[in-house]
Amino acid sequence: METHDSIIDLDNNATTPVDPQVNEAMAACQALGLANPASQHTAGQRARRKLEDLRDQICGHLGGRRTPGSADQLIFTSGGTEANNLALHGLAGSPPGRVIVSAVEHPSIQAPADALQACGFEVIRLGVNTSGVVCCQQLAELVTPETRLVSIMLGNNETGVLQPMREIAQLCKAQGVYLHTDAVQAVGKIDVNFQELGVSALSLSGHKLHGPVGIGALLARSTPTINPLLRGGHQQQGVRPGTESVCLAVGLERALALWRDQVHARDQQLSLTRDRFETSLCRQIPQVVINGGGAPRLPHTSNVSFPGVDRQLLFLALDQAGVACSTGSACSSGATEPSPVLRAMNLPQTLLETALRFSVSVHTTHRQIDLAVDRIVSVFNHLRRDLPAKNRARSGRHSGTKTL
Ligand SMILES: Cc1ncc(COP(=O)(O)O)c(C=O)c1O
Repeated sequence: METHDSIIDLDNNATTPVDPQVNEAMAACQALGLANPASQHTAGQRARRKLEDLRDQICGHLGGRRTPGSADQLIFTSGGTEANNLALHGLAGSPPGRVIVSAVEHPSIQAPADALQACGFEVIRLGVNTSGVVCCQQLAELVTPETRLVSIMLGNNETGVLQPMREIAQLCKAQGVYLHTDAVQAVGKIDVNFQELGVSALSLSGHKLHGPVGIGALLARSTPTINPLLRGGHQQQGVRPGTESVCLAVGLERALALWRDQVHARDQQLSLTRDRFETSLCRQIPQVVINGGGAPRLPHTSNVSFPGVDRQLLFLALDQAGVACSTGSACSSGATEPSPVLRAMNLPQTLLETALRFSVSVHTTHRQIDLAVDRIVSVFNHLRRDLPAKNRARSGRHSGTKTL
């Protein structure tokens, strides 16, 4: 195998490179030396007007409503984790009551759900099928008059599997229950329209869509009262006190505008890149399994099991070979346990213990994909050669969710 100084980044679900146009817009804003948007003097008012214009524009990119009187609320946060925490704590109200989350949520939903349980809510984890999709019928049975909040992600960060959000939204609407969706991996990749989805609130994060790290948002309808997590200021109607960064909001707006300008082309380009990766990998290593591959998926995420090869060993060897990927969610990296998402999909142990996540961006070239597959095949064959013969026999072909 060649040695490489060039690392091929197939870990774009962890973070994405900032678009140069986003950097330019933020630098121009920084050069303005804007005042604190909460200051009452003229310079402060100027900064506030700019921030409110950005709020309107961002809301527009996401398909939110800005009509006076019934305008959707756009609350800036530090990122997706904070937006998810704010949604769960802010929308559930006070106990008792039922909160339903899916079993495949990101840790930034699972942990606040645990906290809600500890303070007296009944928290139910809605299971998924072997493709990673929740069952709407089961959800319908679980949504009771006591239910305060349902939170189900739009697209999964480990498998890319999409949930039937419109159906879920209809169901929640019929029962008058708030529905939040974690759209952190979906916004910037596929067409996401807040009004059309029919959810009550949606989380997003700047650095997942070629925007800056340090800003995200919770977009919510006008009606839910969102209880703050933080205290000590009047910014953002007291829902999220603390000085807002106009420059980060500029970066988020630019990143969203670039996505909105070419939303369908982007989706198509990502799908082509991901499909090239999966097809080529499956041709050269026929025993690999694409987890969740049979379900509708986000176009940039591939979760692949390599039966017979330990995922940690494979991950480390790929890192050395110049392919950056992930053993799961970036927020649980360091954890050696198999992914709770794949466990919830009831995958057999041989697939659970051998799964890695690869995620592409619009900057990933076909040449990089071909090179990455070459490196993966070479590393896989090398590790397989070192396996004792009995393990090799055990790790034959699997009937997983999709083999190409
Ligand atoms: C689905 C999902 N939700 C939430 C987050 C957290 O976002 P942030 O890194 O902006 O806190 C992530 C990050 O990986 C994610 O993939």
